[in-house]
Amino acid sequence: MKTWKIALPVVLLASPLLADEEPGPLSSYDPPLPASFVEELRKADPAEGEKIFMRKCSSCHDHEKDGGNGKGPHLWNVMGRKAGTYPGFEYSDAMRNSGHTWNYATLNYYLTRTERAVPGRIMDFRGIRREKVRAKLIAFLRTINDNPPPLP
Ligand code: HEC
Repeated sequence: MKTWKIALPVVLLASPLLADEEPGPLSSYDPPLPASFVEELRKADPAEGEKIFMRKCSSCHDHEKDGGNGKGPHLWNVMGRKAGTYPGFEYSDAMRNSGHTWNYATLNYYLTRTERAVPGRIMDFRGIRREKVRAKLIAFLRTINDNPPPLP
């Protein structure tokens, strides 16, 4: 009885906070920028990120300024882009309607587990588990831009 009296208010207080933090699709979830990821990003060598990109992404994505769409949308200027808006590419409804903009936090979240971040996405790539590898890759994505955003 005693435990119940204490536990109930704690659960009631905590549940709305927990609900806010529950990771879900980017259409309804604003992911945090984890401190550990920022640390990796600041250490990351974009040249190593480019090698990862060439291995894992370049079969579908073009990263040259004067490139274009392939199996996936052109990724020049992807940072700062509203998701699903590159001209001439046929996105899934899921991507087109996801409503977020690509930045360090949303790219990190998406590239961890793409289907969780944009359920129904048509990008046939699961994600990259290792934070360090994502940080290198995103350090490279930052550079394929007319105005690379400052590092966090
Ligand atoms: C098998 C092909 C394929 C591979 C491999 C792939 N992608 Fe994609 N990517 C796509 C497709 C197709 C879409 C469009 C998804 C949609 O509309 O649901 C996409 C969308 C994206 C977007 C959203 C762009 C926008 O304009 O909103 C980003 C960012 C992205 N991919 C990054 C990457 C990165 C980084 C890698 C490598 C780790 C990668 N992709 C690997 C096919 C691929």
